[in-house]
Amino acid sequence: MRITEAKSLELSFPPDSGFSSSHILFYSGRPDLSSLFPPADSARNRLFVTDSTIASLEPCREFFFRFTGGRQASQLPAVYRDAADTLCVLGAGESFKTMENVLAIARAALDSNFNRNCLFVSIGGGVLCDMTGFAASIFKRGVDVEFVPTTLLADVDAAIGGKTGCDFGSYKNMIGSFYPARNIHIWSGFVQSLPQKEFISGLGEVIKTALLFSRELTDILKARADAVLGRNQELLEKMIFICAQAKAKTVHEDFREHGKRSFLNYGHTFAHALESAAGLGTVTHGEAVAWGIARALDLSRMTGRCSGQFAAECKELLSSYGYDIRPVPGALQGMPGAQQKLLEAMHKDKKNSSSRVKVILQSGAQETHITEVSDSELCGALQ
Ligand SMILES: NC(=O)c1ccc[n+]([C@@H]2O[C@H](COP(=O)([O-])OP(=O)(O)OC[C@H]3O[C@@H](n4cnc5c(N)ncnc54)[C@H](O)[C@@H]3O)[C@@H](O)[C@H]2O)c1
Repeated sequence: MRITEAKSLELSFPPDSGFSSSHILFYSGRPDLSSLFPPADSARNRLFVTDSTIASLEPCREFFFRFTGGRQASQLPAVYRDAADTLCVLGAGESFKTMENVLAIARAALDSNFNRNCLFVSIGGGVLCDMTGFAASIFKRGVDVEFVPTTLLADVDAAIGGKTGCDFGSYKNMIGSFYPARNIHIWSGFVQSLPQKEFISGLGEVIKTALLFSRELTDILKARADAVLGRNQELLEKMIFICAQAKAKTVHEDFREHGKRSFLNYGHTFAHALESAAGLGTVTHGEAVAWGIARALDLSRMTGRCSGQFAAECKELLSSYGYDIRPVPGALQGMPGAQQKLLEAMHKDKKNSSSRVKVILQSGAQETHITEVSDSELCGALQ
């Protein structure tokens, strides 16, 4: 069978970046990895990276069977070989986004005697995109990488734009590189098997994109919440395309994040702090982003940057998708010193260049600013 993409986008990078472009391909229908990556001739070795949950998903089973023969790994990471290809299976979720697992990916390639001409392919969510991209950037000083995102969050955000890395010392994304994928293969059909919590997590980044860049997407999220939550396939494809397009445009304009690309961090300074304070993997990334956007709205309102009405409308949208946007969310209730932990984590954020914390705030819909705030202003938004 031959698969054809329904749509595509070309994301080109600045001439001095060392990269040419990412090709983003959108496919309809049932995901078909076997047709996308038929068994290789020996000209180019390929390392497929996935996690234990995705390895057993129905649309992936046939593809991975070629490697595993149906055998369950007794321990992870597990490495399988078939002719010129290698498969590396890691544990699933944020708690596995570690330097040890990045090195496990590199080791799988090394032990298979792969040279610089090889290709790394991640089949999974944002955690795997970030780690496989990072491993590709450091293996033999850089080999090609492609992504098949399987979560909504990775479709709309993590797979696009070249930020790679892993968590370190219980803080988010402290080690990494800019290293974009050559090809990103998006099958929105994967979203149908996501657990509800992971689907809602992805919607956090969708809402962020809508508030930053798209009135059309904001209107869909407000008017068609039932269809969105029901994972209407047509609507999903539309939302994913709008988000991917917005992210690609932003990254194209500011690859190294000197300006407008920082907007994509809306809610993220707070979000990463919550993920660290609660314990990595306790709150999903998208849930944390939704909470972080609510904190940014409070901060914007308290410092006179936006109206109370604007803040209330945006928070209502977040609440309508069920996010816990209370200043002290469930994950921190009863935790001694929670506010101090949040502040400490916010000061560790990569984006800071002074003792004040850099945050992204909005004064209105699609009106976004980068600003620095004091600890007392931050504390105001945390209680
Ligand atoms: N690089 C970037 O620009 C960027 C942007 C946003 C987020 N991120 C990162 O992305 C990560 C979050 O990504 P995520 O939300 O995809 O998490 P994830 O990769 O941990 O996936 C979430 C869970 O869903 C499972 N899963 C994946 N696809 C599935 C499917 N189709 N059906 C059933 N289960 C499936 C996974 O096994 C995992 O347990 C965070 O580490 C965040 O920092 C990176």
